[in-house]
Amino acid sequence: MCPENVEPKDCQLLAQAMEARTNAYCPYSNFAVGAAVRRIDGRMYAAANVENSSYGLTVCAERNAIAAAVADGMRPGELEAVAVIADTQQPIVPCGACLQVIAEFAADNCLIISETMQEKEVGAWNLDELLPERFSL
Ligand code: THU
Repeated sequence: MCPENVEPKDCQLLAQAMEARTNAYCPYSNFAVGAAVRRIDGRMYAAANVENSSYGLTVCAERNAIAAAVADGMRPGELEAVAVIADTQQPIVPCGACLQVIAEFAADNCLIISETMQEKEVGAWNLDELLPERFSL
């Protein structure tokens, strides 16, 4: 079910994130996250978090989804939206590292949309709200 205030194309992105979440590899935290990203041409890529016994090597779902898009040719300025799904009471916000990576590829007004597994609550922000300042070379 798509919440009424969410555009169908963003609902589709959330659905892809939900599906990808089922493949999360998270034996250490047991916190499964799914993410999906959309390019300005409409192509979508989804991924989940991948943990490691050397904990710091864990890669978040968002960065894995962006890596899939980049592997398929996405370049800076093409990332239109990022959807995230986790099993929480409130929609989660991507971590700071992921925001910086999102910023590398973000189109103007890049949307970040997040939903809980119960699909009760949706959070939506643009990147500039979540990361108003950022490192760039
Ligand atoms: N995680 C994500 O995949 N995305 C987020 O936005 C927050 C955290 C993952 C990393 C780790 O595998 C687990 O969630 C717990 O932090």
